[in-house]
Amino acid sequence: MAVAGVATPFLMSFFPSERAKAAGAPVEVDISKLEPGQKINVEWRGKPVWLLSRTKQQIADLPKNDPKLVDPKSEVEQQPKYCQNEGRSIKPELLVAVGICTHLGCSPTFRPDLAPADLGPDWLGGFYCPCHGSKFDLAARVFKGVPAPKNLEIPPHKYLSDTRLLIGDDK
Ligand code: FES
Repeated sequence: MAVAGVATPFLMSFFPSERAKAAGAPVEVDISKLEPGQKINVEWRGKPVWLLSRTKQQIADLPKNDPKLVDPKSEVEQQPKYCQNEGRSIKPELLVAVGICTHLGCSPTFRPDLAPADLGPDWLGGFYCPCHGSKFDLAARVFKGVPAPKNLEIPPHKYLSDTRLLIGDDK
């Protein structure tokens, strides 16, 4: 009995609390209402995760940015292997990215507008970090000449069906 009494507290502290498990748990998202060009945010492990439904034009424009990008082929490990492609995504139309700047951790702003005065005539839509001016394209790839050193992170994820996505688990 004495042994059991001692053993219990050890086991209790060994297993993570329900709260800790929930904080790290995968998040299921319904994407059935997501229209082309629309972006929604969800929270996973306390981080903002963006889901952007790219339009056909936005997908077609992605390669035009390649010469201006630090890591156009996503060679630096910032994504799962299955997202090491032009769109950094499983399906070309849906970008799933962690919305935290790889410079000092601000959250970049969604700027889908074409050639706005503040971002220049070559801007084809992307994300702009208001803290120190880093720029990312619509595949969350970082442009050259800005403080952020790497592309934004792509979290592990998988499709449960055509309209349901699981973020945080790809097994
Ligand atoms: S935190 Fe984004 S540019 Fe510095």
